Amino acid sequence: MRYLVAGASGYVGQAVQAALLHAGHRVVAVSRRGDACPGAEPIAQDLLATDLKPLLLGVDGVVNLVGVLRERPFAGTTFERTHLGVARRLTESAAAVGVRRFVHLSSLAASRGARGRYFDSKRAAEKAVAQTLPGATVVRASLVFGPGSPLQKGLDRLAALPVAPVPGLPHTLFDPVHRDDLAVLLASIVADGSDAVPLSLEVGGPRRVTLAEMVDWAAAARGRRIPVPKWCVPLPLLSLLAAAGSRWPTLSISSVPLEMLTTPNTTDDDRWRQWVPHPASPF
Ligand SMILES: NC(=O)c1ccc[n+]([C@@H]2O[C@H](COP(=O)([O-])OP(=O)(O)OC[C@H]3O[C@@H](n4cnc5c(N)ncnc54)[C@H](OP(=O)(O)O)[C@@H]3O)[C@@H](O)[C@H]2O)c1
Repeated sequence: MRYLVAGASGYVGQAVQAALLHAGHRVVAVSRRGDACPGAEPIAQDLLATDLKPLLLGVDGVVNLVGVLRERPFAGTTFERTHLGVARRLTESAAAVGVRRFVHLSSLAASRGARGRYFDSKRAAEKAVAQTLPGATVVRASLVFGPGSPLQKGLDRLAALPVAPVPGLPHTLFDPVHRDDLAVLLASIVADGSDAVPLSLEVGGPRRVTLAEMVDWAAAARGRRIPVPKWCVPLPLLSLLAAAGSRWPTLSISSVPLEMLTTPNTTDDDRWRQWVPHPASPF
């Protein structure tokens, strides 16, 4: 079968390409940069800038992973244009050419009340997908971890400090999910020919952790004694810095990661384990 991965060059996208190729499928890997795994068909395309129907002809399914963490309004990149705009264009074109399966990756934090334009656009994109393609599957994932993940890089920076600044509520809970497990899930669902695929799934890993525990875990991996002393930076202060686009010396603070790290991000939905029975624990 032949599957299109939109946002294929990204952190999750690379693993989804690998999972689909590993399962013996052909992969069309689309992003503006056009990076693709060996064996995939690279397409460098801004998905906001062209008629998408020709791209989708002959494709059996689509995995939509397109996202941005920062807006660049002068370059035409906003959360709404990217998340809602691409989701709408992809699903409308997929409906027009009769693509059989569509899987859309969204954020669990968005359904847990996270605030701001990023999360508004994620919620709007989910709605557009469900309205345009009622058979599509929306997957809402908790924080994604794995080697080289933005989460891992942030934790490593914090864990290297004598005192680790953590935003506001260090006891907020997360169910981090490994990128490769999420990728196997997305690849399995898009390739699932049955009628039993759910319309939405929440995905969290097997271990429930706090941000403070994650910092200690990163510190232990560096051979450091734990627990690392923590400085709970008041949220109003961080929100001000984030709103001003300022940067924290150790962790770049924009409003999206700040909201991600302060919104409880857990789920008891374990239906995804039928595709990934033994998901990895972060530590
Ligand atoms: N990482 C997490 O912790 C996490 C957790 C829950 C949900 N998610 C969601 O999962 C999705 C993927 O996450 P990720 O971490 O892999 O993000 P990522 O590394 O930033 O990847 C985003 C991808 O979107 C592509 N893209 C952005 N704008 C595009 C456009 N106009 N046309 C075509 N491609 C475009 C980017 O490639 P180019 O820049 O080359 O175009 C890149 O391939 C996102 O929607 C994110 O919200 C992520």
